[in-house]
This record gives sequence, structure tokens and C-alpha cells, in this order.
Amino acid sequence: MSYGPKAAERLANKIILITGASAGIGEATAKEFAAAADGNVKLILTARREDKLDELSQELKKTYPNIQIYTVGLDVSKTETIAPFLDSLPEDFADIDVLINNAGKAMGLDKVGEILDEDINAMFQTNVLGLIAMTQHVLKIFKKKNSGDIVNLGSIAGRDPYPGGSIYCATKSAVKFFSHSLRKELIDTKIRVFEVDPGNVETEFSNVRFKGDLERAKKVYEGTEPLYAPDIAEIIVFGCSRKQNTVIAETLVFSTNQAGPFHIHRNT
Ligand SMILES: NC(=O)c1ccc[n+]([C@@H]2O[C@H](COP(=O)([O-])OP(=O)(O)OC[C@H]3O[C@@H](n4cnc5c(N)ncnc54)[C@H](OP(=O)(O)O)[C@@H]3O)[C@@H](O)[C@H]2O)c1
Repeated sequence: MSYGPKAAERLANKIILITGASAGIGEATAKEFAAAADGNVKLILTARREDKLDELSQELKKTYPNIQIYTVGLDVSKTETIAPFLDSLPEDFADIDVLINNAGKAMGLDKVGEILDEDINAMFQTNVLGLIAMTQHVLKIFKKKNSGDIVNLGSIAGRDPYPGGSIYCATKSAVKFFSHSLRKELIDTKIRVFEVDPGNVETEFSNVRFKGDLERAKKVYEGTEPLYAPDIAEIIVFGCSRKQNTVIAETLVFSTNQAGPFHIHRNT
């Protein structure tokens, strides 16, 4: 998608850090930033699967020979690794301009009383504590120059909780209120805080939620035309390429046939 010459100009030379860039929305967002700026950006791509990051980096470098990409294996749930990761960035990539807090997951659809401790921990550590730790550290860079964009991936789950989603919904409502508090704290700065709340997006999300049960994952989208990762990437890049005086503070994004977590029209 073209966001126009102004957008390319506004994005030019930006250093963009994306968490969870090895798949789904994070991967699509990397591609979308590259396209919108015609390769004239520096991407820091992080996730646990470094091989996927390398593949993405190679693909982007082939399409945009001028693009600069730094890939790092990073597990955001290990919050103690975040400051050392930022401190170890090469000089060319250290002065981050845009942070996309995208890494996240749902684990299972179990009801309270039956939820595994390890699933609770994985969701809170990644979706909430990892996102907060990353934001705290990157914010120091943004405050020094009084600019920077923070995009937090929330969810419809953070607005409209559903049975079986207690922990995931709690993590995403935490993201929502963290984002809103932060925006208020930064009211006298030029730092922008965006929250993007998707409905169903067909990515690896449900495979992860159902722990590799692909049949069950497929059923989530059966008979529907869901959102796809590039649809959300477009919204993120659109937001970050607006004029400095504009912040799209929050965005609820559904596919046309969805109106709530389970309010979905199915052609079955
Ligand atoms: N898909 C949806 O329906 C939907 C709806 C609303 C909101 N969201 C949110 O959108 C974001 C992206 O989801 P997605 O749909 O793109 O899911 P996805 O396809 O499963 O991708 C998730 C990404 O997060 C990374 N990740 C997971 N745990 C991580 C960790 N501990 N440390 C670092 N990276 C980690 C994964 O990479 P590695 O496995 O390589 O680490 C992967 O790159 C999440 O925050 C999710 O909650 C998704």
C-alpha cells in the first residue's frame, strides 16, 4: 500500500524496533515499514526464532538493497535481558525512533481453576511484563530527544473479556491501561503512544494458543474472512506516518464480519 510521498518522508531514516518480528503481525509490520519508506529505514527485528528473522532480513534486503536490518534473538519474557540487549545495539541502531511492542500470545482457553501456572506465567511475562520492561528502557531514549513512537498491540480481548480468556484478556486490558496512563504521563512531550486492538487475525496466534493443534486452530477462522497480518501492519504504519501533531491513540480493528470476540458471521 502507498501512504504517499509525505509518509515516506516522515518515515525516512527512522530506526524501528519490532518485537515478535518472526511471524504474523510483527513480520508483516517489518515488511510494511520497508515498503512505505522504500527501504529507507533501519529495522531492529527481534523474536526468539532467529532463523525466521534471518529469512525475513534476507528477503527484505533483496527487495530493498538500501535497507539496514539488525536481527537479534530476544525473549521479552526474560525481562532482565532487555536492558543488556538495548545497551548492545550497534551505534547505527541505538537511537531508536519507533517501538512496536508486538510480541504476545494466548495460551489455551481454560477456565479459571484449570489454567496451568506455566500458561499464566507465559502470558503475563510476555504480554505485560516484557512490554512494560521494553517500554521503560526505550522511553529513556525517547525522552532524551523528546520524540518517538510507541505502538502497543492490545486486542478486542482487552475490551470485551470472554469465558476461557481470563488471563489473556487480563493481560490485554493491562496493555490498554498501561498505554493510556503512559500517554497521559507524556502529555507535555512529543512522544506518541498508539494502541492497536485487533479482532481475529489469521496468523500463528491460534496454533500457539492451542499448542500446535492445527485442526482446532483452523476452526477459529472457519467460514469467515478474517483479518490477515498485513491488514494490521497497514494500520500501524499508517499511524506512525501521520504528522507529528497527530496520534491515533487507539484503534479497534475487526474483519467486516466480526463485531465482538465471538460475534462473528460464519458462512457454514
Ligand atoms: N492474531 C490475532 O487474532 C490477534 C488478535 C488481537 C491481538 N493480537 C496480538 O498481536 C500480537 C501479534 O500476534 P500475532 O497474531 O502476530 O501472533 P503470532 O503469529 O503467533 O506471532 C507472535 C510473535 O510474537 C513472538 N513471541 C512470542 N513470544 C515471545 C517472547 N517471549 N519473546 C519474544 N517474542 C515472542 C513470536 O516469535 P517467536 O516465537 O519466534 O519468539 C512471533 O513472532 C500479539 O501481541 C497478540 O496478542 C493478535
